[in-house]
Amino acid sequence: MKIAVLNDAGGDEARVAATPGTVKGYIKSGHSVTVVKGAGKLANFADSDYKEAGATISASNTAAVKGADLVFSIIGGDKKLLASLKKGAGITGLLNPTDNPDFAKACAKAGVTAYALEYIPRISRAQSMDVLSSQSNLSGYRAVVEAGTIYGRAFPMMMTAAGTIAPAKVFIMGAGVAGLQAIATARRLGAVTTATDVRPAAKEQVASLGAKFVAVENEEFKEAETAGGYAKQMSPEYQKLQAELTAAHIAKQDIVVTTALIPGRPAPRLIDKKMIANMRPGSVIVDMAVERGGNVEGAKAGEIVTTKNGVKIVGLLNWPSRMASDASNMFARNLKSFLPLVTAEDGSYVPNWDDEIIQGCALTRDGEVVHERLK
Ligand code: NAI
Repeated sequence: MKIAVLNDAGGDEARVAATPGTVKGYIKSGHSVTVVKGAGKLANFADSDYKEAGATISASNTAAVKGADLVFSIIGGDKKLLASLKKGAGITGLLNPTDNPDFAKACAKAGVTAYALEYIPRISRAQSMDVLSSQSNLSGYRAVVEAGTIYGRAFPMMMTAAGTIAPAKVFIMGAGVAGLQAIATARRLGAVTTATDVRPAAKEQVASLGAKFVAVENEEFKEAETAGGYAKQMSPEYQKLQAELTAAHIAKQDIVVTTALIPGRPAPRLIDKKMIANMRPGSVIVDMAVERGGNVEGAKAGEIVTTKNGVKIVGLLNWPSRMASDASNMFARNLKSFLPLVTAEDGSYVPNWDDEIIQGCALTRDGEVVHERLK
């Protein structure tokens, strides 16, 4: 099949959906690959490396997708681009169908199959294709490292001739994929680490990373995980108890990283201004949920806000792009694992519609929006 790799760079996006390594593999399997000029530049992959791997370099996204069977992208690209794709072609990416259902509609209109990689079901067989996990893992790491550079003190305890430095106290709210990596990173750096979640399964995972679990563990907590492994929206009563616990706990913390999300809903508000007012100057809060409405009152998307009492609230966006090389490597490998699901035995592009992974992530088919979450 003919694969086109878009240049998605721009704004805060720095990742690319194929690396010279994965391109080499595709060529070896008999596919042809076109990479748009400069596609890997911000992730430190040169055009010459793609060329050496066997790709053709194309001048623009529009030129690259002409005649392509499958388009690899991080974010799906511009709707206008779809007019240049042939009917029946596919496009993959983090298409954000919840906030951007228009892209799926445009794909249907163009007769293009849109694969929203964030909808890949979280079953064991699909773990190697799980872009949400591969990117969140890096985000969790990066959020703690970034917090450490903004925080004007050290993470580990240091006993020196000039005196002793106390270890930083780090609190991670939401112990999913990003949160667990944030915990592991804070621990590696020597911080005294605590974490919370509403899912009981998180308790053991937090403990296994050597952090202390802090949560309201009532009857509702025992039922807070959906069959899919996600968190439920908690009741107002639970939220009140959680807020009381959080208020008391974060007054003693130096760094707080929040990652709490509920699928299909705005992010739960976990920290309010009153709680922040009780933190000491120089403390840092990273709100990784800022794009989905934010866990932290006062967080601003894309900004670092300093409160009156000197607390910094970090609302930076697109954490994986801050580690574009690793994030691209992981994303590209996820796509490499995905490719067999849309490849016939002779190597041509044929989606396997009987596969639950394809059914789970394909938004459109034969000119129609087919995904139940979009209907
Ligand atoms: P997510 O990004 O949807 O949410 C992040 C975390 O926030 C979750 O742990 C969630 O429970 C927590 N949260 C939600 N509301 C909260 C609140 N009010 N207070 C505190 N925490 C709150 O979650 P993510 O990282 O996508 O993971 C979701 C689940 O999927 C987890 O159970 C994870 O273990 C599972 N998973 C399974 C995989 C597989 O089987 N292939 C792969 C990756 C994750």
